[in-house]
Amino acid sequence: MPADAAALGAPAFPEVVVSGIQPSGTLHLGNYFGALRQHVSLSQEAGEAYFFIVNYHALTTVRDPEALARYTLDVALDYLALGFDPTRAQLFAQSDIPEVLELAWIFLCLTPVSRLELGVAYKEKVERGLPANAGLLTYPILQAADILVYGGTVVPVGADQRQHVEMTRDAAAKFNQAWSPNAPVFPEPEPLILDEVAVVPGTDGRKMSKSYGNTIGIFDEGAELKRAVMSVVTDSTPMEEPKDPDADNVFALIRLFAAPAQREEIAAAYRAGGYGYGHAKKALLDLIDAHFAEARERRRALAARPDDVRDVLATGAGAARRKAGAIMEVVRGRTGLVRFGK
Ligand code: TRP
Repeated sequence: MPADAAALGAPAFPEVVVSGIQPSGTLHLGNYFGALRQHVSLSQEAGEAYFFIVNYHALTTVRDPEALARYTLDVALDYLALGFDPTRAQLFAQSDIPEVLELAWIFLCLTPVSRLELGVAYKEKVERGLPANAGLLTYPILQAADILVYGGTVVPVGADQRQHVEMTRDAAAKFNQAWSPNAPVFPEPEPLILDEVAVVPGTDGRKMSKSYGNTIGIFDEGAELKRAVMSVVTDSTPMEEPKDPDADNVFALIRLFAAPAQREEIAAAYRAGGYGYGHAKKALLDLIDAHFAEARERRRALAARPDDVRDVLATGAGAARRKAGAIMEVVRGRTGLVRFGK
């Protein structure tokens, strides 16, 4: 960036969109409305963007190598089926970019242990009984490296990731202050959070989450989808009586899929009475089927060509590695990590 451009108020760092996705098996509606849908539409825009499947992060808890490898490819399939555009944005596996671990180490050397112990995700996972390994504790710093190794400025994530982006900003600021006070190497990225979707309820009414076992998969269909939708908990108001749509889990899901006019129509039917939860569940089922019909077809076609999916991931990794490598050259220079070997 030329000095005069900065003087004119141009941003010192170009916009770079960055986000990571957990390879945690079947992605569900909570993932879809919380982040994935936004990732897909961002991938279709012009501009630099990196989306990666965070298999290093997954190692904090996953011990089954086949499952990890399969889930990684599955997530890529899901993204492509939903319309992710790999010609505009990069899609790749985190483990193809070892530079991220190098940068994470450098950030760890700037991070007080006490700060990590305040991590809400860490505390929540340990409360749930996961072993408190150092990977789990330092998870947010690996995430900071994920973002900053590509010079990320915008991080589209679910609301639960706010603290991690905050810790990323801290890492960037600490690095800049320690090693480059006059010419910052790292931007301080901002989260991009879809506020309209506060929570996607799971079948038991709690937030939809794999760890609660209350999910509806994006690519569930037929009997499996029906079973999941029918299991959504409702109160016991009889069919004939009026109901409050805003107090019902089925309607909370319907509103995510229905166009405004249809949403109002169904809400009116709830309030009028004579419309039961069975009717609402049938409406939800139809909405889900219609919404994902094309994506399901695309997923079937892609699943038959796994090599094409691997090619996408390889191309994405190549581009990501070039960017990460260039940033790490600067980082090595600033920190005094001289390289003698070649
Ligand atoms: N922690 C994120 C989650 O659980 C995943 C993630 C890892 C991520 N690295 C990232 C998200 C970098 C955004 C940017 O969803």
